Amino acid sequence: MTKNNMWVAGMAAPLMSAMLLQFAASPSVKANAQPSAANAAVKIDNFVFGPQELTVPVGTTVTWTNSDDIPHTSVSTEGVFKSKVLDTDEKFSYTFTKAGTYSYYCTIHPKMTGKVVVQLRLKLELALRWKHFSCLVASVCE
Ligand code: CO
Repeated sequence: MTKNNMWVAGMAAPLMSAMLLQFAASPSVKANAQPSAANAAVKIDNFVFGPQELTVPVGTTVTWTNSDDIPHTSVSTEGVFKSKVLDTDEKFSYTFTKAGTYSYYCTIHPKMTGKVVVQLRLKLELALRWKHFSCLVASVCE
């Protein structure tokens, strides 16, 4: 074990406890901006859903915008949501009220696929904090 790894092992548990206590003390604490927003966007451009995989908290409204110059759709593989045919600059929105992984595709071009991962807010914030803690330790935070 390197000196650095030992430090990580020794510090991880108490820091995780501190993070959890912080949640208990201040329920309104916000994780890094984008993933905790109540709205999120997917841009359809050049036959690609971007981002192809989007992770959001429960309750988020996702809006797809067709920025391509040909029509596309956004249709859930499991039949959870279904847009009409979207012409250029047209939008479709759906609010995700349950945690889960939602795959979707364009019915006109079935090779166009995407995924929305909907997580419980606490789980998502803990994951973000853990990710940030890890990058701090490794000194690779962006
Ligand atoms: Co398409």
